Amino acid sequence: MTPEQPPQADAGHGTILVMGATGTVGGEIARQLSRSGVQFRVGVRRPETFPELAGAAPVRFDAADPSSYGALDGVDRLFLLWPPGTDVRRDVLPVIDQAAARGVRQVVFLSILGAERIRVVPHRRVEEHLERSGLDWVFLRASYFMQNLSGVHRDDIRLRREIFLPAGGGRTSFVDVRDVAAVAVRALLTGEGQAAHNLTGGEALRYDEVASIFSVTLGQRVEYTNPSPWHFVQQSRARGVATPFALFMLAEYTVARLGLAGEVTGEVQTLLGRPPIRLRQFAEDFREAWL
Ligand SMILES: NC(=O)c1ccc[n+]([C@@H]2O[C@H](COP(=O)([O-])OP(=O)(O)OC[C@H]3O[C@@H](n4cnc5c(N)ncnc54)[C@H](OP(=O)(O)O)[C@@H]3O)[C@@H](O)[C@H]2O)c1
Repeated sequence: MTPEQPPQADAGHGTILVMGATGTVGGEIARQLSRSGVQFRVGVRRPETFPELAGAAPVRFDAADPSSYGALDGVDRLFLLWPPGTDVRRDVLPVIDQAAARGVRQVVFLSILGAERIRVVPHRRVEEHLERSGLDWVFLRASYFMQNLSGVHRDDIRLRREIFLPAGGGRTSFVDVRDVAAVAVRALLTGEGQAAHNLTGGEALRYDEVASIFSVTLGQRVEYTNPSPWHFVQQSRARGVATPFALFMLAEYTVARLGLAGEVTGEVQTLLGRPPIRLRQFAEDFREAWL
């Protein structure tokens, strides 16, 4: 598909800093900002290795290292995420305090769908801290990313033509990271505040339906093997996945198995003025990843 044209920059605003720009969502936000023609900073742990990207100035920013918080000086708007596996109290909440102290006006935070109901997740703690911060905030409460299928589950599909997840017959309202990033870019460029967006795709699919889409796209049968929770953890460990991550995934797919991951909202359509990217399109766009 043709890359979407992001909204034009509002020249009345100051500098944007994008965290996590070497990762899935931050990287896509950086690419879309670059296409929009604005100048912005990417806050990364190793700026010397960040690839050349028009408009992007890499600065050292490590959320776990307060000596790097100078990256926030002069910043008006910040894209923030909770890096998986980090300690939210030690590594993320201080960034918000420092952002407020150093004059940042708006924080766009990558959260998860249902964060307001699942109070134990780190994302809700970040949201609550932002609500109390005096900053303008935008929460992107995203559903399960399609890009997990080209990321963490890529080799199952590429090498074994298998979708190996313990999600039973539950439905998931997959969202494409490109849509999440487009909503983030819109929020950053318009300077939106005090908004929580529930971002899902336009359909909720079972994993056997996902496997059928991949079978058609790749021209080879891809099977959804639907392992039991126990078999999933055992087999993941045998394939080199660390036990804590296997258990984390088990919890995540149990949500789908219980039928709690299928909520479809219309917010991507409302905010972007076009339908969300469908899984079939995603599979075609990234087909090479599984060949
Ligand atoms: N996967 C899903 O389906 C899904 C759905 C909804 C929400 N989410 C949420 O999305 C977030 C993950 O986003 P993602 O998939 O884009 O992550 P990702 O691809 O794993 O990338 C993580 C990014 O964080 C950076 N990072 C790690 N530790 C850091 C630190 N101490 N200081 C600064 N940057 C640091 C990494 O940089 P380095 O290159 O330096 O390591 C990398 O750029 C999580 O909070 C997750 O819960 C995920």
